Amino acid sequence: MNQDKTPGLRSTMRIIVGISGASGVILGVNLLKALAQHTDCETHLVVTEGAQATFPYETGMRLDEVARLSTHYHAINDMAAPISSGSFITDGMVIVPCSMKTLAGVVTGYSDNLLLRAADVCLKERRRVVLVPREMPLSSIHLGNMLKASRHGCVVMPPMMTFYNKPQTIQDMIDNLTGRIMMAFGLSFPGFAPWK
Ligand SMILES: Cc1cc2nc3c(=O)[nH]c(=O)nc-3n(C[C@H](O)[C@H](O)[C@H](O)COP(=O)(O)O)c2cc1C
Repeated sequence: MNQDKTPGLRSTMRIIVGISGASGVILGVNLLKALAQHTDCETHLVVTEGAQATFPYETGMRLDEVARLSTHYHAINDMAAPISSGSFITDGMVIVPCSMKTLAGVVTGYSDNLLLRAADVCLKERRRVVLVPREMPLSSIHLGNMLKASRHGCVVMPPMMTFYNKPQTIQDMIDNLTGRIMMAFGLSFPGFAPWK
């Protein structure tokens, strides 16, 4: 059993990763790769149709290649997938990147696809939900929805640049964000050094 994980009911961690159609789908890919380094961490991946449309613009990856980075992949319209039920116990969910449409769905409980249903389930079961909302600039609708998400208990973690760690590459910045997301689940990540 991994000693650096948050206490749970199982000897393994189980994290749902949702990738939606905002810019930065590579952030979701990087998180999946990092979680795969924790051999006792199960990942349940769900990718929206919006994200599937974004992948060709931003990466050379096909959906099946992304899916292989997870331990369990679920189709976006498979509402009977295990992550659709609260009785399937998980440690929570990360939506990275989180589009403004998916953000709106999360805060209103409008669960018309598996990603939104899984987030709704995590919130009703009081499990951790980390959102990585990405848009620029942000309208008052977007900002209002982020405030609502925070009040509903979500951790709102926009992919903001950090400079104190002296990043040399874009990958350094991606790793920094990945490390912060993993920290929210009590998981370490070698690409991220906490401030000392
Ligand atoms: C290349 C590309 C980049 C996009 N970037 C963003 C973005 O940063 N933020 C956002 O909210 N929507 C963005 N969109 C639009 C969303 O993909 C679109 O609103 C989609 O319907 C979101 O649906 P989903 O949340 O179900 O993935 C982008 C679309 C494309 C094709």
